[in-house]
Amino acid sequence: MLKSVNKICDCANDADFQTKNKVILFISGNFHKFEEVHSILSPMGITVGMLRVKGEEIQSDNNNEIAKKSATEAFNKCCLPLIVEDAGLFIDAHEGFPGPYSAYVYKTIQNKGILKLMENIQNRKATFHSTIAYYSRKTGPLLFEGQIEGKITLTERRGNNNSGFGFDPIFQPAQSNKTFAEMTLKEKNCVSHRAKAVNKFAQWYNKQT
Ligand code: IMP
Repeated sequence: MLKSVNKICDCANDADFQTKNKVILFISGNFHKFEEVHSILSPMGITVGMLRVKGEEIQSDNNNEIAKKSATEAFNKCCLPLIVEDAGLFIDAHEGFPGPYSAYVYKTIQNKGILKLMENIQNRKATFHSTIAYYSRKTGPLLFEGQIEGKITLTERRGNNNSGFGFDPIFQPAQSNKTFAEMTLKEKNCVSHRAKAVNKFAQWYNKQT
């Protein structure tokens, strides 16, 4: 096993090929995220492939730290230019909770539980945050952030686009009457936290190559 990793790590040529041809890996097990990222990067001339790299789930109370550590860990395994993304939903009335714990909260209490936590609460304000961490041998870890303010829907989940991915059915961006799950991929990409972070990354990346 170690032998094969070393062999991969010797392949500096692969990394050169990737950079020259604007090919990067998106390390994730989440196909919805990949679709969003791919549909932004592809028209900007950047080819992105999805790769799932098994590793320990990184715990931290900071999304940037999680993204940075995940990117570093993934690079140590595959030695090729890559990005990882870490997102979180920050609810004002709960002092930013679940924030960096969003994945765990979604896994356990899901959207139904969030709506329950919001029962009888007037202040529905929430912010979605995304951190993209890029890692290459040349640059080390670089972070790009995006966020979008909005609110948690009143009582119900709305929409099933993107298969009602994550908190999409209960998050309605400010200045929109649709939840993320009621938007098309294109509409979500015009406003989302992830799209903002990915666009910042792409603009930087295209200046380097
Ligand atoms: P992750 O740790 O970046 O995968 O995201 C934390 C949690 O937020 C996961 O449970 C995701 O389902 C959820 N999540 C991340 N991004 C989005 C999004 O764009 N819409 C809805 N839910 C999201």
